[in-house]
Amino acid sequence: CVLGVDLGTSSVKVSAVTRSGEIIAQEGMDFPLRQPQPGYAEQDPNDWVNATTVAIVRLILKDKLKPEQIKGVSYSGQMHGLVLLDKDNNILRPAMLWNDTRSTKQREEIMAKMGHRFIEITHNKPLEGFTLPKLLWVKENQPDIFAKATTMLLPKDYLRFRMTGKLVMDYSDATGTVMLDVEKQQWSKEILDAFDIPETICPPLVRSIDNTGHITKWYSEYSGLSTDTVTFGGGADNACGAVGAGIDSPTKVLSSIGTSGVILKYEPQKETNYEGVLQYEDHAIPDAFYSMGVTLAAGFSLSWFKRTFAADEDFTEVVESAAESTVGANGLLFAPYIVGERAPYADADIRGSFIGIDGIHKRHDFVRAVLEGIIFSFRDIMDKYEEKGSQFDTVVSIGGGAKSPLWQQIQANIFNVKVVSLKNEQGPGLGAAMLAAVGMGWYKDISECTKVFVQFKDVFLPEPENVSKYQKLHDIYQKIYPSTKEITH
Ligand code: XUL
Repeated sequence: CVLGVDLGTSSVKVSAVTRSGEIIAQEGMDFPLRQPQPGYAEQDPNDWVNATTVAIVRLILKDKLKPEQIKGVSYSGQMHGLVLLDKDNNILRPAMLWNDTRSTKQREEIMAKMGHRFIEITHNKPLEGFTLPKLLWVKENQPDIFAKATTMLLPKDYLRFRMTGKLVMDYSDATGTVMLDVEKQQWSKEILDAFDIPETICPPLVRSIDNTGHITKWYSEYSGLSTDTVTFGGGADNACGAVGAGIDSPTKVLSSIGTSGVILKYEPQKETNYEGVLQYEDHAIPDAFYSMGVTLAAGFSLSWFKRTFAADEDFTEVVESAAESTVGANGLLFAPYIVGERAPYADADIRGSFIGIDGIHKRHDFVRAVLEGIIFSFRDIMDKYEEKGSQFDTVVSIGGGAKSPLWQQIQANIFNVKVVSLKNEQGPGLGAAMLAAVGMGWYKDISECTKVFVQFKDVFLPEPENVSKYQKLHDIYQKIYPSTKEITH
């Protein structure tokens, strides 16, 4: 088997997957997130290593996997988190994570200095979430630490370092630093020079399926893994999630509802540029790319509603009560900007709203409006794709949206595209295992592996009458952002 390590923001999950895609064991462990000040989000990289090791030890001792049975390991990692090491590879400060937003000043300085040229090089805007603004925050606020830094890694790469001694980063995570020249596929000297960052801080780049070395003797003794076990590049969690959901062609799009929500599209070309309105990243599939738009409060809008208005009730029943309402929630609209919005507006200050509240409305109308509003915000991202001429034949629904048949049907009608769910939805960990399976040479490429590992389950087709109702409602929904911008800021 191979191990797919899914290093998230609150926990790690390690899945043992056979050559034929069967998950034979899974172990996980939580670790803390530290928020010492508003806007700060930090973790101790040692916690990632310890938690992953506990999971691996459990796989061996509790699930009785034999170390020699584990042929390969690959990684999916929370994106953008900055890990800085000194010349002896010691950790210099806690990792600053993707949801750490302290670097607004640095983000603005990047744009003031480089302007549109920055977007030309990276195909992204320098948002606080990304790595470069964080690095510049350290440079400005902790110059002693910056001066000692000889290596910058992302979370999963630090974990790999402790398992193999190798300091490398894969391309899919490297694009998330916004320091990579997407078209040249190398670290951007122009960006590094503009901000006086030594190029030596950037690790060598590898592909997600490349061999990144054997388990060291030390880590073998620590974890029980064999020194014969090989590791592979791995990728960013969104890239691995896309691999695990079979997003391997431009006509399939991923709709993922977690706390935040993601609409993600496979991109065959590095030249495509959405001007930073959508994120643009290297895929974990070699020589391919993906773009995505993030709705900040997707599942979070629903869990906020449930917590606030239906705290003691069963979650599924609350969601399914939306069936008692109608298409368009009897005239009620919800804009899910309750923690600001990333795509397509990149507006941290906008706030959400219910529009059109009527004396006839019942709670189930509000639930329905929340489910629909989240998908309308996804529809805004789909519009950006359609403006560029993209056409889709399949939306693969994962996360919260895939747990409710009603919500999947709403998606099919709002997207006007067939929606499918996955037979064995395992998220980024399965994608990571697939990268190891291809790296091992068990499959010729990701596409061949996808045919064995990824199967679709339920299918929801658009219903023409409801599609046209939703088109009219989405036109109205699109007026909410400009109309409420000023009063909710
Ligand atoms: C993507 C992003 C998040 C993290 C979560 O840009 O910031 O989805 O990858 O781990």
